Amino acid sequence: MATKKLLLLAGDGIGPEAMAEVKKLIAAMNEKGAGFAIDEGLVGGCAYDAHGQAISEEDMTKALAADAVLFGAVGGPKWDSVPYEVRPEAGLLRLRKDMELFANLRPAICYPALAASSSLKQEVVEGLDILIVRELTGGVYFGEPKQIIDLGNGQKRGIDTQVYDTFEIERISGVAFELARTRKNHVTSMEKRNVMKSGVLWNEVVTATHKAKYADVKLDHMLADAGGMQLVRWPKQFDVIVTDNLFGDMLSDVAAMLTGSLGMLPSASLGAPDAKTGKRKALYEPVHGSAPDIAGKGIANPIAMIASFAMCLRYSFSMVAEADRLEAAIAAVLDDGLRTKDIMSEGKTEVGTTAMGDAIIAKF
Ligand code: NAI
Ligand code: MG
Repeated sequence: MATKKLLLLAGDGIGPEAMAEVKKLIAAMNEKGAGFAIDEGLVGGCAYDAHGQAISEEDMTKALAADAVLFGAVGGPKWDSVPYEVRPEAGLLRLRKDMELFANLRPAICYPALAASSSLKQEVVEGLDILIVRELTGGVYFGEPKQIIDLGNGQKRGIDTQVYDTFEIERISGVAFELARTRKNHVTSMEKRNVMKSGVLWNEVVTATHKAKYADVKLDHMLADAGGMQLVRWPKQFDVIVTDNLFGDMLSDVAAMLTGSLGMLPSASLGAPDAKTGKRKALYEPVHGSAPDIAGKGIANPIAMIASFAMCLRYSFSMVAEADRLEAAIAAVLDDGLRTKDIMSEGKTEVGTTAMGDAIIAKF
């Protein structure tokens, strides 16, 4: 069996604590012949402390050569005053840029055991399983011009520019259509074509891509603001949502919070398929940060990191059965009443990071 090359970048704060649980899981899978080869590197503040960069060239080279990168979290008050270019986040931004991770996948899944603690009514979120596909390397966060101009009359002007080219919209919608085929076969594309030229083009290119290659998938278009309303009103109408960088940033945060705590939320970022092997570069990470307020206490919720590894199994290694089993193990442990502090509620059993990881591995 070909080895599966994983690079683990645990980072700072609770990153290493959550990653330790995934390492145990991988070791357990390897005992049964899964064949993962693990390498580890430094990213973020710990990398800065070691060699003055948020990620070293050596670790970047390893990331580019890996089948998948598992990323913990970076940052913390210790590095608040380091120079901007080498701040902890620069490590993550460099990885996203050099690996050309243009597709950010954020699932919003409602575990049955947690449906009652959502801020929405239980029937609105129960059984929810949607996926937001956000364009990650283009749009208004990167478009030029991007500047603040002094107008000389006591006024300044701040400028950001939303730019999308055909190929960028084609490739992100392609990812969404392909993922939809493995799910409920339904894509909703969101933009604001009523007020934005880039929205008009987005709508045109998604429609053309659908017609040319994915006509078997159901496609709807929705204005992004209406989409925000619908996500809160009746999120179960969606399967896959595809949208640009800015709308995706906001809509994925909204969708995520339908289902609970930051400590539960995984994500994946994918690049283009390799011309020879067809494999996509990929990085998997929890949505949460390094949580300095709870770091070192052994109480961090490892589920976001473990669920990110489930996405890795699914999308980088086509280990769909294993990914399903891992997600089922998480649901089963929650059904049993085990809770880390962040998701604790009355009558449940509070456990720490390690015990939660062990319980999930035991059910897997
Ligand atoms: P955060 O996500 O680290 O924490 C927000 C709150 O949620 C905290 O109260 C924290 O204790 C709690 N929390 C987060 N993850 C949890 C988990 N797994 N289990 C239990 N509780 C959890 O965001 P915050 O506080 O805004 O940022 C802290 C640091 O993390 C900053 O340096 C920030 O720049 C960095 N950060 C890094 C990210 C990354 O590495 N991708 C993303 C977001 C923030
Ligand atoms: Mg955000």
